[in-house]
Amino acid sequence: MKGLPEDANYSIGLLDEGITPADVIDNYIFEQTHTGKKAFFVGDLGKLMKKHIEWQNMMAPIKPFYPVRCNSTPAVLEILAALGTGFVCSSKTEMAMLQDLAIAPENIMYINPCKQASHIKYAAKAGINIMTCDNDIELQKIARNHPNARLLLHIATEEINGVEEMSMKFGTTLKNCRHLMELAKELEVQIVGVKFHVSNSCKEPQVYLHAVSDARCVFDMAEEFGFKMNILDIGGSFTGSELQLKEVNRVISPLLVDYFPEESGVNVIAEPGCYYVSSAFTLAVNIIAKKAVEYDKHLSSGMEQARSDEPIFMYYMNDGVYGSFANKLSEKLNAIPEVHKKYKEDEPLFASSLWGPSCDELDEIVESCLLPELSVGDWLIFDNMGSGTLGERSTFNDYQRPLTYYVMSFSDWYEMQDAGITSDTLMKNFFFVPSCIQLSPEDRFSTAA
Ligand SMILES: Cc1ncc(COP(=O)(O)O)c(C=O)c1O
Repeated sequence: MKGLPEDANYSIGLLDEGITPADVIDNYIFEQTHTGKKAFFVGDLGKLMKKHIEWQNMMAPIKPFYPVRCNSTPAVLEILAALGTGFVCSSKTEMAMLQDLAIAPENIMYINPCKQASHIKYAAKAGINIMTCDNDIELQKIARNHPNARLLLHIATEEINGVEEMSMKFGTTLKNCRHLMELAKELEVQIVGVKFHVSNSCKEPQVYLHAVSDARCVFDMAEEFGFKMNILDIGGSFTGSELQLKEVNRVISPLLVDYFPEESGVNVIAEPGCYYVSSAFTLAVNIIAKKAVEYDKHLSSGMEQARSDEPIFMYYMNDGVYGSFANKLSEKLNAIPEVHKKYKEDEPLFASSLWGPSCDELDEIVESCLLPELSVGDWLIFDNMGSGTLGERSTFNDYQRPLTYYVMSFSDWYEMQDAGITSDTLMKNFFFVPSCIQLSPEDRFSTAA
């Protein structure tokens, strides 16, 4: 079973009862150990369906529009299209990918605060009309390049954090919305809604209250200008935790009832990215080099576990920030991997740090964790690696994309069929290519321990 991320002819291994994605990882580690020890992903596509069902149960009637940049592998996009999500693109490349998958332009939005004129022209040609705007230069650019554009005004949210107030980098003020509406009238550009985005570090329900009531003000303002607005986009930042989804729902549902009741005719949408894909993908990496350094106060800063009479181990892996850990450059990553090889419960643990292969000081993946002593050639397993990991890559230090192996349990597959979640494209690419289907108990999955 081969499934390259960039390969539209990917295949999905259907897992017989009793075989888990962890068995598949064991199997490929065994295989890779003899064939080059390349890093690889295993993507459990059944998890996407489960997340969608959870979303529908909890967040309906908010329609999800999945941000393609989170994970643009064709398998993910096709499953989500079959599930009925819309899509959010930030570039021409992403729009083209969706066009290749024959996704209807009405289900695509071009949401990038700073759009290139050529990408706007591309959207115009493709019939992708909904895009965001938060300033007059962007508005003029859109007016010049996309006569049928329908805009969502992106309003800023404020995060109230103790005594600190942090404004988001993107989004405009209520006052400026009036100015943008005047300009849009002059330029004959349609404004059809409002978008806001609350950062995922935000723990304050007040932020949603301000954002939804500001959005209501913009809708009221639009009436004065004669714009018929019918879309409210509440953005992303859904982590994937059921608890967090419940909490956001607890806060946002009553606000929507108050400010945008059903009879207002406003379609409320959201942009869940991580939510769908993060937990579905696991990355297996191999240790390619190792250094034992003596305890040193400077080196061990942040390693409370380090003992002065023991070495600190630095391990270098065959994937790093210039590859699948790109998110680490912009976000704090708290991923502590699982050690694949079996070790005894009483085996001593050592303060360790984990690095990518580039020898660049930015390429530190885990600053400090406790691990048994590992050897070159051992494997580490990182969970929750589905977002921000499978997209365009740099070629730094000959970086090669890890392979991606897709799986789905039979029970999830049946559930999909029962729910009528399928499409011709999906069936064609997923299940009716005989060489891709590994159903029999004799296949190699079943040999994995
Ligand atoms: C346009 C857009 N919307 C929303 C998101 C947020 O996604 P998440 O829900 O993963 O925070 C992203 C992340 O890349 C994005 O690019």
